[in-house]
Amino acid sequence: MKVCLILTAVVLTAYSLSCGPTILPPDAKITIDLARPGAAVSPDMYGIFFEDINHAADGGLYAELIQNRDFEYNRPPEDMRWVDDSTVINPQGWKERYRRPADLHAWSLIQEGSVAARMQLVDEEPLNVTNPQSLRFEVTHLESGRAAVANEGYWGIPVQKGARYRLSFYARKDDRSSGSLMATLEGLSGETFASHEFTGLTEKWGRCDATLTSGGEDPQARLVLSAGSRGTIWLDCVSLFPEETWKNRPNGLRADLARMLDDMRPSFLRFPGGCVVEGATLENRIQWKRTVGEVAARPGHWNLWGYRATDGMGFHEFLQLCEDLGAAPMYVINAGMSCQGRGGMVARKDELKHYLQDALDALEYAMGPVTSRWGAVREANGHSEPFDIKYVEVGNENSGPDYHEAYKFIQSAIKSAYPGIVTIANEQIRLREDDRTRFPGVSLEMVDEHFYQSPEFFCDQSTRYDTYDRSDSVGIYVGEFAVSAGKPGMGNLRAALGEAAFMVGMERNADLVRMASYAPTFVNIRDRRWNPNMIVFNTSQAYGTPSYHAIKMFSLNRPDRVLPTTVELSVDSSGLRQEHLRGAIALSAWNTMAEFKDVRVEKNGKVLFEDDFSRGAGHWTQKQDRWDVIDGSFRNESTVMEAIATAGDSTWTDYSLILKARKISGDEGFIVYLLRHGDNQCIWNIGGWGNSVDVLMQDRSATRVDLGKRQVFSVAAGKWYDIRIDVKDGRLRCFLDGELRHDEQLRGPFIPSVHATSGICEQQGEVILKIVNPFADSKICRVELLSAPGVVPEGTALVLTSGSLEDENSFEQPERVAPRTTALRDLDGTFDYISPPNSLSIVRLKLRR
Ligand code: AHR
Repeated sequence: MKVCLILTAVVLTAYSLSCGPTILPPDAKITIDLARPGAAVSPDMYGIFFEDINHAADGGLYAELIQNRDFEYNRPPEDMRWVDDSTVINPQGWKERYRRPADLHAWSLIQEGSVAARMQLVDEEPLNVTNPQSLRFEVTHLESGRAAVANEGYWGIPVQKGARYRLSFYARKDDRSSGSLMATLEGLSGETFASHEFTGLTEKWGRCDATLTSGGEDPQARLVLSAGSRGTIWLDCVSLFPEETWKNRPNGLRADLARMLDDMRPSFLRFPGGCVVEGATLENRIQWKRTVGEVAARPGHWNLWGYRATDGMGFHEFLQLCEDLGAAPMYVINAGMSCQGRGGMVARKDELKHYLQDALDALEYAMGPVTSRWGAVREANGHSEPFDIKYVEVGNENSGPDYHEAYKFIQSAIKSAYPGIVTIANEQIRLREDDRTRFPGVSLEMVDEHFYQSPEFFCDQSTRYDTYDRSDSVGIYVGEFAVSAGKPGMGNLRAALGEAAFMVGMERNADLVRMASYAPTFVNIRDRRWNPNMIVFNTSQAYGTPSYHAIKMFSLNRPDRVLPTTVELSVDSSGLRQEHLRGAIALSAWNTMAEFKDVRVEKNGKVLFEDDFSRGAGHWTQKQDRWDVIDGSFRNESTVMEAIATAGDSTWTDYSLILKARKISGDEGFIVYLLRHGDNQCIWNIGGWGNSVDVLMQDRSATRVDLGKRQVFSVAAGKWYDIRIDVKDGRLRCFLDGELRHDEQLRGPFIPSVHATSGICEQQGEVILKIVNPFADSKICRVELLSAPGVVPEGTALVLTSGSLEDENSFEQPERVAPRTTALRDLDGTFDYISPPNSLSIVRLKLRR
């Protein structure tokens, strides 16, 4: 036996590691069976999910440098109106909180010297109908100094010395103006880096173009347009692009950010979202036809994540990005539902055909011959060869009976028009055998599951797919996953290791899990709406979080086939005990108005608590919403996202909770909590996920796991249900109207483990072993290769680790937590690999031929 000693990440980069026999007993035994290669790992296993969130597109990957170029930024979300400066409302009365932008967001007026000028947002004589607003810039006095309008870009315009920038805009003037306008690129402290004088503006809209070469460097420059005379000038579609975009595409992408995607060698790209596909209202959903063609005629839309999007990075640009990355396009379409039931907006059955037609038109645009209606538009937009859409996902995070109907209708039509396309359904559609009769004709190819959880959850769920039902041959796509709870910082090593443990489990189950993508991908540090993200950037710099490096390591080290791999871990588990099962009860509803009555808690035949609400609701502590007692039952007043009322004692153990519940109106059913104390509780959600499932869940230290299987179920509004839950010695039995729906054992505290999977690259004769060590000390892993024809003594280890789990990358230290490669020597059929504390290692071994 040989040993490879790995000391620290620093040592790794400096030396090739000598190996020698060890006398230390191993902590973990990893056995790899080469005689029984398992499932093929999908070539499309690791990809990217792109959504314009956190200014990922505008002010991010999309290289446009002018913010609010079309002066449409202040328009409210589609089908909504501003109620005040922080609220919009839709016709159904559904409200959303968004900050109302200033009329001329990102633009400012400059009056220096003896001048008088003003700027206004106007809708007179628009450039085109889809772009009704423009900037009216009027100079009434210009004696000395300057009158100008300036754009600050997306928190600054980054300019580099010697770099060239393409400026364009549309303008017209009145008869007082001389028709001249000076464009300058100016640094933060006022220096001029480039200038160009435009003359000959007329009283009709005309396009002006110039290339500016910057004489200086500043990540926070601005564009200034100064009037050459008194008079009025109208401006629209003011655009500034670096000449160098990724692959030099016009209307292209920021090269450094696109390169980071390319470096991951993604096999697919899921686009354009996410929630943005669904919209805050149905009208607000991404409508691809409004995102193609001449940019000046694209109306843009209100991005559900709180800002206005130009849609300059539209359907065509996404397809081009896929082609340039060599990634299979995965197009997500709207299934007639707005995001997460906002305003309860669901398209009527007879409207679904429009949603389907829209999707079919998109597919024709991408793949149709140039003789077809939409194929011809693609050709006119500069791409006569078809793009190749490989995957279509019907809806995003949708669920419930409406979704089942929509999915069935849309999926079957897409499949018959494009049999080669692989269709993907949203998670909650997975049906048990006995539910299939309720939704006949639903045909599933792949199901998309999403997880935003703690590192403990992901480590725990590393075995999730080991026991998944495979009887229906439906593949799993984990379309969105990220550690977003349990101290992920802004993307630290702890988060990356949790995700890596989960990825180990996905790859080990490659027969089932065919694809995976982290989410979200990008964050502009000036607009962090979601945390964490994979790639962090400002105007001129970018770095990958440890999660970026981890998923890239998996993608670049994808084997062809899985090898059966077992891990036997000898950890000291003394001191790990079953969580103490105690806690109060709570009643709850999600986006729903519900009522509850005759609540009783019994223990060994004795009543611990009883409330018939005849004396009000004094026993209950309310969080969110207003609760009232009406006709002897306790109801939440409106339909806020999550209404909860808690009662009882955190010391209660082994009890039965008995009550009646009724849904009045809203999106879902009702929820009952028990054993609620601190970060621990159990949740029986009856009619969750858009009133589509019945699920029992447990929060252990704020980490939520399902107990048993989710069952398809919808609560009937207006009907009283009898609920009873018995808790005894960690066993939970849940009865609905006398029927036993769940009989599950509660889970104890999370027990960490070493996680490993391996696979083979057949052509190269290489074994790739991935090991996640989430412990704070190094672990000696005794690796045994069964039936190996012999192992070449030299190999490599690529290791992601750092001094602390809290460690993150930053603009100052972009590679603080990044993988380092080291050479391994003296490898053999059995060897010891010392996995560093808190690490992900990818060990590559060559087999003798
Ligand atoms: O990734 C961020 C959001 O999370 C996505 O838009 C949505 O699909 C999920 O809820």
